[in-house]
Amino acid sequence: GMATGNKLRHVESLQEMPSGAGKISCLNAVILGEALASEENDLVFPSDDFARQAHVSSPQQYLEMYKRSVEDPAGFWSDIASEFYWKQKWDQPVCSENFDFRKGNISIQWFKGGLTNICYNCLDRNIESGNADKIAIYWEGNDLGVEDSLTYAQLLDRVCQLANYLKAIGVKKGDAVVIYLPMLMELPIAMLACARIGAVHSVVFAGFSSESLAQRILDCKPKVVITCNAVKRGAKAIHLKDIVDAALVDSAKNGISDFVPKYPPTCEVEWVDAEDPLFLLYTSGSTGKPKGVLHTTGGYMVYTATTFKYAFDYKPSDIYWCTADCGWITGHSYVTYGPLLNGASVVVFEGAPTYPDAGRCWDIVDKFKVTIFYTAPTLYVTRYSRKSLRVLGSVGEPINPSAWRWFFNVVGNSRCPISDTWWQTETGGFMITPLPGAWPLKPGSATFPFFGVQPVIVDEKGVEIEGECSGYLCVKSSWPGAFRTLYGDHERYETTYFKPFAGYYFTGDGCSRSNGQKIADGLHPCFRDKDGYHWLTGRVDDVINVSGHRIGTAEVESALVSHPKCAEAAVVGVEHEVKGQGIYAFITLVEGEPYSEELRKSLILTVRKQIGAFAAPDKIHWAPGLPKTRSGKIMRRILRKIASRQLDELGDTSTLAEPHVVEQLIELADR
Ligand code: WT7
Repeated sequence: GMATGNKLRHVESLQEMPSGAGKISCLNAVILGEALASEENDLVFPSDDFARQAHVSSPQQYLEMYKRSVEDPAGFWSDIASEFYWKQKWDQPVCSENFDFRKGNISIQWFKGGLTNICYNCLDRNIESGNADKIAIYWEGNDLGVEDSLTYAQLLDRVCQLANYLKAIGVKKGDAVVIYLPMLMELPIAMLACARIGAVHSVVFAGFSSESLAQRILDCKPKVVITCNAVKRGAKAIHLKDIVDAALVDSAKNGISDFVPKYPPTCEVEWVDAEDPLFLLYTSGSTGKPKGVLHTTGGYMVYTATTFKYAFDYKPSDIYWCTADCGWITGHSYVTYGPLLNGASVVVFEGAPTYPDAGRCWDIVDKFKVTIFYTAPTLYVTRYSRKSLRVLGSVGEPINPSAWRWFFNVVGNSRCPISDTWWQTETGGFMITPLPGAWPLKPGSATFPFFGVQPVIVDEKGVEIEGECSGYLCVKSSWPGAFRTLYGDHERYETTYFKPFAGYYFTGDGCSRSNGQKIADGLHPCFRDKDGYHWLTGRVDDVINVSGHRIGTAEVESALVSHPKCAEAAVVGVEHEVKGQGIYAFITLVEGEPYSEELRKSLILTVRKQIGAFAAPDKIHWAPGLPKTRSGKIMRRILRKIASRQLDELGDTSTLAEPHVVEQLIELADR
């Protein structure tokens, strides 16, 4: 098994590795004898057996590769890209030169001029190399006993049939296609079919309401919406087709045709430029309407495949299961593209992890002999053996050290390394992640940057801080998986991500370099400790993360105030045992309107209808007034403290226009 730091060894010294574009402080893992671990030296080492078989088996090996990846990104990434099929190799520099973001006009390009196709690389290439009969997808339905599977050859047939159908109804290269499907095999099939013909898919999570779907349809103007009649989620049926029909009334009424799979199972590939768009995925920001994050083909392909291989130490014999839905970026990069590019066997699960009971997940792990299990850190312990597991992955929210230990000890039987992968919709793939054979882990830390990624921590003024510190997490330079723009709004892309801290991509997250350190005032920046380990501490903007679903508080607020009886709304995130973060809404009603249970329900229903059930507030807090500065700005810092009942930490309330509203709010807290 794996040894924990407090029993066996500690890491002897810290080494500064100078690199071309920046520095990363890294462990020089000289392993000594017994040492008592402090909090900070709480290390969990990969077992010798694991390390020996790993792609990267020591910190030294990581450092060599990392050094090359930042000093010579063009060489590093073009070597990897050459393992894929290119109809024609790139004829221009591998990437835009040194990515100097200070100059404005952000234009990120990788492998420009290269012609390829990601569907071809996922399917045809793996089939040609002898994997035609390997299982590509094991599908497990919502109901027990309902299952299916497709080999790589069968998957290609299905993809081609749909691709031919799309072509027949007039979808061409560059056209947008909205996909509104649950986790059927048809969902990755639809994504791959679009990619095959050069169409740009935009998957909308099937938990979004018709209004949210309509908003996305209006923004990207797809030629087609792909959906299905209905889906069962747990014991409940959801009529997706009705939702789509309602959305189309709001957006673009058009012919609706039912897809009959009577199309030929071969379909020629549309070769696209590496910088041609692959997909749009809408995500929430801190203000305004959802942003269409645009990813292109070549860089995304190389990056998702490589991060998948190294962060999970993927081997061809693995059975891989990621519990994410393809409606989110995790399902794009690590259900569909990353694994299939590697020729992996992927488990796709339609249902909810708790149906018919909390043991469902482990049941599936045992049934398919899953070896790599990637999930959000909120699941349950049960009686199953889980003997097959060898690597665990965690994503979506900071995992606290005790949850980490539970995942490690119970789910992984103290045997499986945990890759706590930090990344975002915008980054395309993992940014800070363990390579499980290389580094000793620290429970709760995402550890070190992936190859080619240069994280920096900056202070409020945007000045880079070295060594142990906390601050805002930015990234210097660029990496192949980075998003290229916000669809239709390049200016918002530059303003949101590249203006806050000149010269860097700003993640919206905090980071810290000293275990456990928290930043006051509702900011939770990121932190890097003395050994160079990164501790992600959460968003610093008004974006919250509910069960791995990212949502802007502004969106929930705008849904709430659309209710005729709501005068004002302020939404904050609060810690939630199961969901990571819960949605907490302060509501001021219009003059003279009394509070009532009925009104509470109708406010919640409004959010469900406008956004989706997952965005429904967990708590409505009646607020005769909201704490505001004299200039009228809502003081969310105070609302967060009230929401989490940290009433003795309200801080300075003297700058409030009407200080008494705070007392009113406290009085009404449990009404
Ligand atoms: C935000 C991105 C791409 C992953 C799924 C969510 C938070 C993500 C971690 C992690 C701590 C994490 C960040 C980030 N986050 N992974 N391992 N540890 N926080 O993608 O919807 O684009 O949300 O999720 O706050 O900014 P997303």
